[in-house]
Amino acid sequence: MNRRELAGAAAALFAIADGLAPAESASALSGSGARNWRTHFPALEQTANGQRLVYLDSAATTQRPDRVLAALIDFYRNDNANPSATLHSLARRAHERFEAARQTAARFINAARADEIVWVRGTTEGNNLVAAAWARPRLRPRDEILLSIAEHASNLLPWRLVAELTGATIRYIEVDDAGRIRLDDLDARLSERTRLVAFSHVSNVVGYINPAAEICARARRAGARVLIDAAQSAPHVPIDVQSLGCDFLTFSSHKMMGPMGIGVLWARHEILEEMPPYQAGSNMAHDIDVDTFQLEHGARRFGAGTPNVSGPIGLAAAMDYVDDIGRDAVARHEHELTKYALGQLREVPGLRLLGPSESEQRIPAFSFTLDGWTPLDVMRALDARGIAVRAGDLAALPLLKRLGATSAVRASCYLYNGTDDIDAMVQAMHKLTSKSS
Ligand SMILES: Cc1ncc(COP(=O)(O)O)c(C=O)c1O
Repeated sequence: MNRRELAGAAAALFAIADGLAPAESASALSGSGARNWRTHFPALEQTANGQRLVYLDSAATTQRPDRVLAALIDFYRNDNANPSATLHSLARRAHERFEAARQTAARFINAARADEIVWVRGTTEGNNLVAAAWARPRLRPRDEILLSIAEHASNLLPWRLVAELTGATIRYIEVDDAGRIRLDDLDARLSERTRLVAFSHVSNVVGYINPAAEICARARRAGARVLIDAAQSAPHVPIDVQSLGCDFLTFSSHKMMGPMGIGVLWARHEILEEMPPYQAGSNMAHDIDVDTFQLEHGARRFGAGTPNVSGPIGLAAAMDYVDDIGRDAVARHEHELTKYALGQLREVPGLRLLGPSESEQRIPAFSFTLDGWTPLDVMRALDARGIAVRAGDLAALPLLKRLGATSAVRASCYLYNGTDDIDAMVQAMHKLTSKSS
């Protein structure tokens, strides 16, 4: 592609993004909206194994709308420089866009200050940063970290490692038979020894939206800090860190239509100020001499080295996209889709759903087993029909075991999915089960 063609492509992408009027999104509720929204995602126009691609793996990673792709192209075409607030114009523009993205992220989760937004590679790195810079210097033998049994490996192993290094103990909050955190068990395990409660707002297996504000309130009453792993909630549920009452919250851009390799750790400013740097280098300190340096403040002390600039810009474009089509419209669409999918999945002979069978307090992610078929074989059979789902232990083996499985299939939807996608998967599974009976 030459420069002129590239410019044309970028202009076309912007035209698509500009055409995204709120009126268009309103039709989502009539059922055609998801199809309208789907047209914003070029990757969904392809076929897979000769069939229309039915993408049901968004809990692993989502597709990106034109608008995000356009923002990335635009940054690299026009404003690419190592960011600086004070140097040449290109460097200043890169800096301004990078910092504007921080403001957008702060608004998106209602953070009190933009410098509470620490850019990390994703939820995993955010959790590790808190484990290394907050927990490791503080925890002692006899201290306890409370996790739920439903945690993803990325919100389990960082704490296990900290416990090994500090002598602290991990305790696990039980879930009920549908994988929901049991508040009575939380209360039973909280004590004056509990220093941290870390839990996923939404389980990546059962899709249930845990009562996060209530969990935070109970943990704080016991004097513990709280970390919310919002990897599966930030894409679907409005996040307000101030009303949730947590101390730390982490999420990944790639699960909410932004680029891979970028994510957010939010923490209250005063807590960030109490934490030693996670990594050291340029940009996180100034007046650096052979034996002295001055640490930056807030999030900036965790931004060592040249940052990922395009990542936050792409993520901010994804956040603006969601806000433009309307978070409420997306939530209503996803709720309808959840009701529909649960009804259809119930009709598949031998299918056992892991997680709540009600559509309330749930995101559209459905994990299940199918009698007579291994999850991997279901995934392969669906893949052959152009349907992308995930299978395996879903990085949450303790939860799967609690629910009586060691492996499962997971179909997960996002705003671009419609009932036609559910129908395609369910029809394919009816064919499988009729063959195996
Ligand atoms: C609940 C939960 N936490 C953490 C992660 C890790 O996210 P990432 O791999 O983007 O760091 C995931 C990813 O699937 C997840 O579902």
